[in-house]
Amino acid sequence: MDKKYQNLIEKAFQVRKKAYSPYSHFKVGAALLCKNGNVYEGCNIENGAFSPTICAERVAFVEAIKNGEREFEAVAIVTGPKDANVYEMGSPCGVCRQFMSEFCNDDFKIIMTKIKSNGELIDSKEFTMDEILPKRFKLKDLK
Ligand code: THU
Repeated sequence: MDKKYQNLIEKAFQVRKKAYSPYSHFKVGAALLCKNGNVYEGCNIENGAFSPTICAERVAFVEAIKNGEREFEAVAIVTGPKDANVYEMGSPCGVCRQFMSEFCNDDFKIIMTKIKSNGELIDSKEFTMDEILPKRFKLKDLK
């Protein structure tokens, strides 16, 4: 795998530790690579009223967008229960797919990972935006 994606996975692994998830005890980290090389990170932030909970992927995009970024290449995701020894490959939820899709081309990469709690990468898979959200709704293409 491309070295820059290994660094991206490492960043997702590290930011996962900052997740605020006292209700699900499920921690997610996302690292978003912009086409200019900048990286923005996000973790999931839960809420006692449940529906205001925001996923790691959306936090990373919000951080990037508010910094003026508009061109994105890839996002790496690390997901797993708080005390697991191995974090299984997790896939972005439907809300995050639509949210990310607003800012991404069809070839934007979503990197899912299986990783040990010590940070050792076991496996990773790359998917494109078109694969994970085919025939997506994009208002700006319809106007
Ligand atoms: N979660 C994410 O942060 N990203 C995903 O791709 C899936 C789910 C969070 C939301 C919630 O805090 C917890 O994981 C359990 O669903």
